[in-house]
Amino acid sequence: MGKILCVLYDDPMDGYPPAYARDTIPTLEHYPDGQSLPTPQHIDFTPGHLLGCVSGELGLRQFVEEQGHTLIVTADKEGPDSVFEKELPDADIVISQPFWPAYLTAERIAKAKKLKLAITAGIGSDHVDLQAAIEKGITVAEVTYCNSHSVAEHNVMMILALARNYLPSYQWVMQKGWNIADCVARAYDIEGMTVGIVGAGRIGLATLKRLKPFDVKLHYTDRHRLSAQVEKELGLTFHPTVADMVPRCDIVALCCPLHPETEHLFNDKLLSKMKRGAYLVNTARGKLCDRDAVVRALESGQLAGYAGDVWFPQPAPQDHPWRTMSHHGMTPHVAGTTLSAQARYAAGVREILECWFEERPIREEYLIVDKSKLAGVGAHSYTVTKDVEEAYQG
Ligand code: NAI
Repeated sequence: MGKILCVLYDDPMDGYPPAYARDTIPTLEHYPDGQSLPTPQHIDFTPGHLLGCVSGELGLRQFVEEQGHTLIVTADKEGPDSVFEKELPDADIVISQPFWPAYLTAERIAKAKKLKLAITAGIGSDHVDLQAAIEKGITVAEVTYCNSHSVAEHNVMMILALARNYLPSYQWVMQKGWNIADCVARAYDIEGMTVGIVGAGRIGLATLKRLKPFDVKLHYTDRHRLSAQVEKELGLTFHPTVADMVPRCDIVALCCPLHPETEHLFNDKLLSKMKRGAYLVNTARGKLCDRDAVVRALESGQLAGYAGDVWFPQPAPQDHPWRTMSHHGMTPHVAGTTLSAQARYAAGVREILECWFEERPIREEYLIVDKSKLAGVGAHSYTVTKDVEEAYQG
């Protein structure tokens, strides 16, 4: 009998919702590359309900308890007195989510003597120290694809919001104003602009596809080049490096994972190579950017706008400069946790748990670390530091 420790964000301030804005969410058949949506044997929740918060429990309690395991769900994740720290030493499985990450640092992993499986309820497992997971033989799995399209939609929204100066215009309405000139003095169409995507994986490619009808010029860079057919269909220009791509772009969107190769990629040096007045959108991870370099670039006008959904740490402290910098369109980390996305990742977590309990293999595409090395999507999209990777991959 095991202990499953699940860290989720707090309930809404008004309490768990008694009703929802819409009665249903669409049923999707499969993802564009043919990958099936999560296939648990059963679910005990209603798709479209709030599952990602503490009271939502990812719809797992009945299932986990029927299997004879204990489920602890908490939002209290920081500091030595937190529920997370106290429950971690004898937890067998940790479930966490990028929106409210329970950082599984090397120190915490060292304390978690029984931990065998870390599940990310979403995509992006950088909150787990992957080197430590490799060394301790912990499997790390996430629900690949579950919210990639949710984030692609958010990218398009943020690009348009920045270029068209949407948020300041909305503020004039809220202030009872009609200040057209104030609104439009920074407003542009994106038609004809050049958009560059860093990381054309599931989110990046879906963002490119969604932007195509806007008649923008589409560029991208990635460790893995897309097929010639996809490049032709979307009219893409490939760049071997990000430094080669950004000077050409009016808009850059970050869609790659956070790992040693990408940490603080957008620093003063790279930002200075961008066109003056470019827009930067980052729904991937806060640490892809140097926090203060972004603030400086907005102050100097090197960037005309920065919109992001991701911060470090999370939750961001009240005095985080990205809350108050000029020309920003920040959201707290919400892009991948719409009610639509929650239904998919709750089902995906259940699928992973069913496999684990029944000793069936977890889908290859869900794996980040397995058998003491990067595996599945982890091997495709991440790096760990070189010596560890070499030591453990032989
Ligand atoms: P994916 O694995 O399908 O694609 C990632 C792509 O980045 C891959 O094609 C990979 O080759 C590329 N990449 C890796 N290192 C690179 C580098 N140094 N330079 C250029 N490209 C590089 O993953 P997916 O689904 O597209 O998600 C990407 C990231 O988006 C996640 O790892 C996560 O950090 C973030 N995310 C954010 C969410 C949100 O709510 N804001 C929700 C889901 C994901």
